[in-house]
Amino acid sequence: MLVGLETSDDAGVYLLNEKIALVQTVDFFTPIVDDPFTFGQIAVVNALSDVYAMGGKPLTALNLAAFPIKTLPSSILREILRGGLSKMVEAEVALIGGHTVEDPEIKYGLAVTGVVDPGRILSNAGAKPGDRLVLTKPLGTGVIATALKGEMASQEAIEKMVACMLTLNRTASETMQTLEAHGCTDITGFGFIGHALEMASASQVGLVIQSKSIPFLPKALEYGGMGLLPGGAYSNRQFFSCKVEVDPAVSSLLVDLLYDPQTSGGLLVSLPPGGAEKMVEALREKGHYDATIVGEVIGDFPGKLKII
Ligand code: CO
Ligand code: CO
Repeated sequence: MLVGLETSDDAGVYLLNEKIALVQTVDFFTPIVDDPFTFGQIAVVNALSDVYAMGGKPLTALNLAAFPIKTLPSSILREILRGGLSKMVEAEVALIGGHTVEDPEIKYGLAVTGVVDPGRILSNAGAKPGDRLVLTKPLGTGVIATALKGEMASQEAIEKMVACMLTLNRTASETMQTLEAHGCTDITGFGFIGHALEMASASQVGLVIQSKSIPFLPKALEYGGMGLLPGGAYSNRQFFSCKVEVDPAVSSLLVDLLYDPQTSGGLLVSLPPGGAEKMVEALREKGHYDATIVGEVIGDFPGKLKII
């Protein structure tokens, strides 16, 4: 076993031979959008992300579904699975089975198996002082999903959020592997701060985050300012704030959004300065316009975050 439970990394890694290690992960959740096809797509992009974050290539997947078959038409379940399959096809991942249980609440996701070169595993423990941090997707899916539930989200905000969640982290993962990245994780339920702190702690480094450079989805700050923050943002703050130092000049609203739990968020990649610039350039050329350098890695303040 090369990566197991103890490091709170994205996926487990098991060595098969000198050239190949297995990468395994499982992820499923309740609907974040109303359209079943889109929900299926998002759940799959989100589940595959943990393999991409380790520098792996996902190969096969098993569906995991919970569905209230006595109260909802089975066509909804079919649409969820069809949406999921469409993203597996895009990612060139083979669906090889699955399991559905009856449950009052819809849930869907995948167990994913991939491969990685054992010498090139990108865990969250590899960040090195002097590195820059690249974030590949904007933040704000939690806030906008909350506005959507409250029927207060604009059409544009919803479309941009969905497009963001539907973007595979495959291109970002393949790009970082060509640029000598040292470490990586994906931004999901613990929010930007929570996952950045996991990296800081696993790598025994400090992270300095330039708040002004953080990319946000359209309307995320506006809805956050209206108090439309999901419960997870508050629990993330409660749990992680003791390890975060915020410059008094940084607005508290912006910090709130750094705690916003993300669904199918981007990768946070630690790599040398030249590589970071190349990564941003390469991703923008491929249509990932929000990819940005958001901070740097320092030797001081191990396990902590400084937001300036
Ligand atoms: Co992850
Ligand atoms: Co995960």
